[in-house]
Amino acid sequence: MDQYVIKGGNPLVGDVEIGGAKNAALAIITAAIMTDETVLLENIPDVSDINALLGAISFIGATVNRMDRHTVSINGSTISGSSVDYDLIKKIRASYYLLGALIGKYKKAEVPLPGGCTIGSRPIDLHLKGLQAMGVNIKIEHGDIIAEAEDLHGAHIYLDMASVGATINIMMAATMARGKTTIENAAREPHVVDAANFLNSMGASIKGAGTEVIRIRGVQKLHRTSYSIVPDMIEAGTYMMAAAATGGDIFVTNVIPKHLEAMTAKLTEIGCLVQEYDDMIRVKADKRLKRTQIKTLPYPGFPTDMQPQMAVVLSKAFGTSMITENIFDSRFKYVDELARMGASIKVKGNTAIISGCERLTGARVAVPDLRAGAALVIAALAAEGVSVVEDIVYIQRGYEDFELKLKKLGADIEKVDSSRVIGNRIIQIAE
Ligand code: UD1
Repeated sequence: MDQYVIKGGNPLVGDVEIGGAKNAALAIITAAIMTDETVLLENIPDVSDINALLGAISFIGATVNRMDRHTVSINGSTISGSSVDYDLIKKIRASYYLLGALIGKYKKAEVPLPGGCTIGSRPIDLHLKGLQAMGVNIKIEHGDIIAEAEDLHGAHIYLDMASVGATINIMMAATMARGKTTIENAAREPHVVDAANFLNSMGASIKGAGTEVIRIRGVQKLHRTSYSIVPDMIEAGTYMMAAAATGGDIFVTNVIPKHLEAMTAKLTEIGCLVQEYDDMIRVKADKRLKRTQIKTLPYPGFPTDMQPQMAVVLSKAFGTSMITENIFDSRFKYVDELARMGASIKVKGNTAIISGCERLTGARVAVPDLRAGAALVIAALAAEGVSVVEDIVYIQRGYEDFELKLKKLGADIEKVDSSRVIGNRIIQIAE
């Protein structure tokens, strides 16, 4: 098992290029199987969640060709079944998108119910309710969702919560349903817009993505397209926080600054210099930062996926900060690990109270989930001394070349096999 060994204390300086958004790519790769013509996707991030999904669609018969590291062609005409194997997709929650895509195209699907998740319970009742309103019969048997529609038709659907997954899943099915669908209280995240733009480029008729009401007119067939995935706002935000926590000065390139506004606003408020350019953003922190209050909310609010990284920044800031987590019920699991590095954080219900301390100190910590993993790496970069970050497989699910990009910014970080680490030291092996 790989681990990161990090010697903290270097302010990050330089520039870092952001890749395609994992969460947009998961939806778009799945939607690509809805046409029998070939789809070319560019700016696909090379991360394990994406590679697992490509494996899953190729298992059901889609022809997947990796043209280069970030370009994939997909042809869904060779799909032989609408039943997906549990082992292939148990690790990626976004496997639920196969439900919407297969129902839309073949009017039937058999997809394993996504498993548990370390950031809290993540029901998919809204996905299922939406599909049922469109005429889909759904049974849960032996851990699988078995879905079939004799007449897949449009419907008026109100989402009780602005769920990203439910919005995209319903949008995919509605794209190939008879008649019109309206989704009210739709999620407005950039990856919802990207998925809609992609479907439209295949011939779908989707209007209003990015607002609370999305209207879809069903079409009978989708066609070939080529499409480039939107830049990853969470990857970008993570490097912004890393600069803030280490007292650095970095340029984050290949971004859409508008998508980063929630992070930009908070970093500016606590004392960072943030400068926006056309497709680039600079974050500079040259003094001790100040306290603030954060509430996670659906886009354009502060993203839950940035909450752990922001907590690290605030753990070194002056004064007492509060973070209220409104999206997931168990997203403070990393707090005990951060405490091992000297952070002072108390969790009460869905609120973390962070008393800023002047210094963090390196420690051995274990990663509980993807974004918390990135946060622990940031903490290690901002801490005095050496840290060992274990269970980095979670980080590899969503960050391409994390350690290489950080190294380029001046971080002292090594990826090593755990058998080579004793305590906080790497055992040197003679070549
Ligand atoms: C997506 C992102 C994830 C991000 C989250 C919130 C992907 C692959 N993942 O997850 O990184 O943290 O959005 O921005 O894009 N809910 C229900 N019933 C449902 C669906 C959702 O109650 O059927 C609730 C969830 O428990 C949660 C809230 O709605 O409290 C938002 O979840 P949702 O937006 O659906 O998250 P995901 O799409 O799973």
